[in-house]
Amino acid sequence: MTEQTIALVTGANKGIGYEIAAALGALGWSVGVGARNDERREAAVAKLRAAGVGAFGVPLDVTDHASVTAAAELIEDRAGRLDVLVNNAGITGSAPQMPTTVDVATVRTAVETNVIGVIRVTNAMLPLLRRSTSPRIVNISSGVGSLTRQTTPGAETGPIAVAYAPSKTFLNAVTIQYAKELRDTNILINAACPGYCATDLNGFRGVRTPQQGAAIAIRLATLPDDGPTGGFFDDAGEVPW
Ligand SMILES: NC(=O)c1ccc[n+]([C@@H]2O[C@H](COP(=O)([O-])OP(=O)(O)OC[C@H]3O[C@@H](n4cnc5c(N)ncnc54)[C@H](OP(=O)(O)O)[C@@H]3O)[C@@H](O)[C@H]2O)c1
Repeated sequence: MTEQTIALVTGANKGIGYEIAAALGALGWSVGVGARNDERREAAVAKLRAAGVGAFGVPLDVTDHASVTAAAELIEDRAGRLDVLVNNAGITGSAPQMPTTVDVATVRTAVETNVIGVIRVTNAMLPLLRRSTSPRIVNISSGVGSLTRQTTPGAETGPIAVAYAPSKTFLNAVTIQYAKELRDTNILINAACPGYCATDLNGFRGVRTPQQGAAIAIRLATLPDDGPTGGFFDDAGEVPW
């Protein structure tokens, strides 16, 4: 087995995921670029390699069990273990998302990708993560999933979004449950809020760069062994639940 640290970033072909892959690669790590579209994945891998990153493509649709299983097999064959998993792939779901008029299919799709996709990928990768000496899992959440912020008058939580925002609240709750089950292992699992970044997800209206958004994921991916688990963090520190 290679000594080089092995990471997998889901949804790494663009946006914050791409920048997470680039930043982990800059640490000298070998980075799996998880992406569902062949062309977009290979373009991202080529761009990362041109920048000196030890990137490799991992075909991966987080909503597809067979795809996720094949991704775990690919990493098993290539590296025999996984050190860091960044569950970044996410969608907002189609608009409108007003609770009283939403198409429930929109809610279901957001949960399928943003929550169940994370559980599916995490569980497929866990046998590989358990072989690492310092496994880390980072779930890319969002401050809009913070119930405290959602119920604090004046707090900036974006538009009403009955699919997207609760899917991130759900993801936060799922992160806590994993941390509780894995408490007696060396696996640290945390949720990260990248802040409002200019990406396809929001029509590039975000005020931060995707590189800035990636920074908290890098911090949580490189936590020391006595670092936190079951937390929710952004650049400024802990995010309220
Ligand atoms: N941008 C922000 O302001 C912001 C704020 C808070 C949290 N976040 C979170 O940050 C993460 C990254 O978002 P982003 O802003 O970088 O958005 P983005 O540019 O739209 O990137 C999303 C990535 O997820 C991938 N993806 C979506 N569904 C997938 C699936 N079923 N299987 C595999 N990959 C899938 C996309 O792949 P395709 O190219 O194939 O669609 C793309 O690579 C998301 O979890 C998002 O909720 C973003």
